Amino acid sequence: MSIKYQKETGIFTLHTKHTTYQMQVDNLGTLLHLYYGEKIADEDVSFLIIRNDRGFSPNPGDRMEERDYSLDFLPQEYAGIGTGDFRIPAISPVNGDGSLAFSGRYKRHKIYDGPYELSGLPKLRDQKKESQTLEITLEDEATGLMVELLYGVFEEADVITRAVKVLNQGKEEIKLSKVMSCTLDFLESDYDLIHFGGHHVQEHEYHRQPVSFGCQSFGSVRGYSSHQHNPSGILCKTNASEEEGDCYGFVFVYSGNFLCEVEKNQFSQMRMNLGIHPQQFEWRLLPGESFTAPQVVLSYSETGLSRLTNNFHNIFRTNLCESKYMNQVRPVLLNSWEAVYLDFDEKKILEIARSSKELGTELFVMDDGWFVNRNDDSHGLGDWELDEKKLPHGLCWLSEQIHQMGLLFGIWIEPEMVSQGTKLYKEHPDWVIQIPGRNPSMGRAQMVLDLSRKEVRDYLVEKMNGVIREAHADYVKWDANRSITDIYSQALPGMKQGEVFHRYMLGLYDLMDRIILANPDVLFEGCSGGGGRFDAGMLYYQPQIWGSDDTDAIARLKIQYGLSYLYPSQTIGSHVSVCPNHQTGRMTPLHTRAVTAMHGTFGFELDPSDLSEEEKKQCKEYAREYKEYAPVMVEGDYYRLTNPYENHLFTGWMHVTKDKQKAWVSLVMTDVEGNAPISYLKLRGLDKDGMYRVDGLNLVCSGTVLMKMGIPITWELKEYEAVRYCLTRIDKE
Ligand code: DGJ
Repeated sequence: MSIKYQKETGIFTLHTKHTTYQMQVDNLGTLLHLYYGEKIADEDVSFLIIRNDRGFSPNPGDRMEERDYSLDFLPQEYAGIGTGDFRIPAISPVNGDGSLAFSGRYKRHKIYDGPYELSGLPKLRDQKKESQTLEITLEDEATGLMVELLYGVFEEADVITRAVKVLNQGKEEIKLSKVMSCTLDFLESDYDLIHFGGHHVQEHEYHRQPVSFGCQSFGSVRGYSSHQHNPSGILCKTNASEEEGDCYGFVFVYSGNFLCEVEKNQFSQMRMNLGIHPQQFEWRLLPGESFTAPQVVLSYSETGLSRLTNNFHNIFRTNLCESKYMNQVRPVLLNSWEAVYLDFDEKKILEIARSSKELGTELFVMDDGWFVNRNDDSHGLGDWELDEKKLPHGLCWLSEQIHQMGLLFGIWIEPEMVSQGTKLYKEHPDWVIQIPGRNPSMGRAQMVLDLSRKEVRDYLVEKMNGVIREAHADYVKWDANRSITDIYSQALPGMKQGEVFHRYMLGLYDLMDRIILANPDVLFEGCSGGGGRFDAGMLYYQPQIWGSDDTDAIARLKIQYGLSYLYPSQTIGSHVSVCPNHQTGRMTPLHTRAVTAMHGTFGFELDPSDLSEEEKKQCKEYAREYKEYAPVMVEGDYYRLTNPYENHLFTGWMHVTKDKQKAWVSLVMTDVEGNAPISYLKLRGLDKDGMYRVDGLNLVCSGTVLMKMGIPITWELKEYEAVRYCLTRIDKE
């Protein structure tokens, strides 16, 4: 049993293989957070909580005599509001009488084998019933508002999930203006917050800062998880490194607006809340109604960031996405976007597809531009009718030609959007998200369809499944190229407009259920102007997401470094493009572009006719090497060898098989110095007692030496050059 309850003490203890999570119902019914960290026995650690009579820290009305009891400093599982806890709340209701308070007291609990339900929302899957669930219900006695805290324990994976259901069991309508999915309280605050974000064409940058007095937060109010901030993060001890120190990781399984807030309070305690962003959120609950907040995946490592990373990689590989491709080596693809953008015809497409075979490509993807009125990016979205001027023989014929070349065929779609000149817009202007009487903001000259409406989703299911069928598509790239503004659904009354952002997400998940899950043989790739919606919610449906619209190999090192913390390599769409790079103008060797793209789902984003014969041969060799190495990437452990934000000279990473028999090491020089000191690339994750042959270096060496001393980086490697080493353990072959 990974979940234990001790009636006498009111203590719940959740064990995973290496971690323990403990909480306690105290004699007032408050659910206190006692512990989350390295595995301990079933001991009672409530002694850690020290109560004092602290000035200006209120005492609950039914415990007036206990002047040392205050919600102001007690660590809790789900933070209330308005009754003595002044820290960031997890929930904020407007009650029937207009009061703004919630104080949850223990009501009941349930423990069962298998996962909890989160209808309509993505979450870790558990077909094998390997998890156990704990449901603890807290009640605000004054209003009848109940909060059901859901804990899923994946013992072997060292993962605990959290989610919340809020139920109105009172007699009056209650308005929720904030419902976070998880509160995590800490007794101390000597932690750093690591999180990831940037901007379009440079997303997922790594940010690490000490938790400081007051509140820090990051999040998105753009309607999607965003380029600016990823819905994930890590709290780690200030001295934590790849191999040492306590680290707590959290990933929100949601693709819409989110908020992560971290507070260090007056007593140097720390609280982290993660959930749907309260801005422009309001959910009304009539008596008997409920609201479900999405899942958060938590993991802890006492041995640094590498282990935490691999905990998340492992659970996301096995329990998140149902697609059969998730743990398969992906076909090497060539995507037409940077080759021709929107300017192509049948002849050109077939020419690119044909010549892509010379690069070892297995899948050809026709990106944006194949439908009517799509000669620039301001028009054409919504009707999804083929442009017969560009492709006179039709999609089916084109696909057949490409299949006959021995290639798989893929196509680009952007279902959620509409352009104003289309038939769809003219016939159904009310199907669009816009506020009546206001001139709506545009993004890439397009508008967002109101996916909260079933009829809109029905239209899209028919259209998209039609395109996939007609194209005999083996692959689909699902793009979304603007933020959501002017939030309003014409299908809902004024007082329900605060629900639209979340209803949009529920609609999107339903749409993906009906299109993606209904086409199990199609490989789907998510995209939102690159990595604008790179989150676990999307990965529930699609096994890979285009990492960024920036294909520059050097810029990509940082982007992929950021993503590597919590998302497995095989989920990161990553391609070789031409030089000068279209986004940065940088020149890099072809080899470096290939090494960097091999961090993810390797492919090409170029017109092969722009390559020399020699370069084409090299590409074919890279494609071959990728197929050889990819099984290690797909199943093995991942190690960052350098931090590109600290080491400006070189970036290294490696993948190692679980049995430590084989490893692939990649190194890219990002800068050079004249007469430089010799640096050493220190490896990780090998068996220290093993002897490894390092191909490419004519070297046989122990794991200890490779990890403690490293591989010397010699002067032969010039700026932007790269190397890859394949390591094979030879003493156990
Ligand atoms: C944005 C994507 O990130 C690109 O790869 C490309 O598909 C364009 N959209 C097409 O409009």
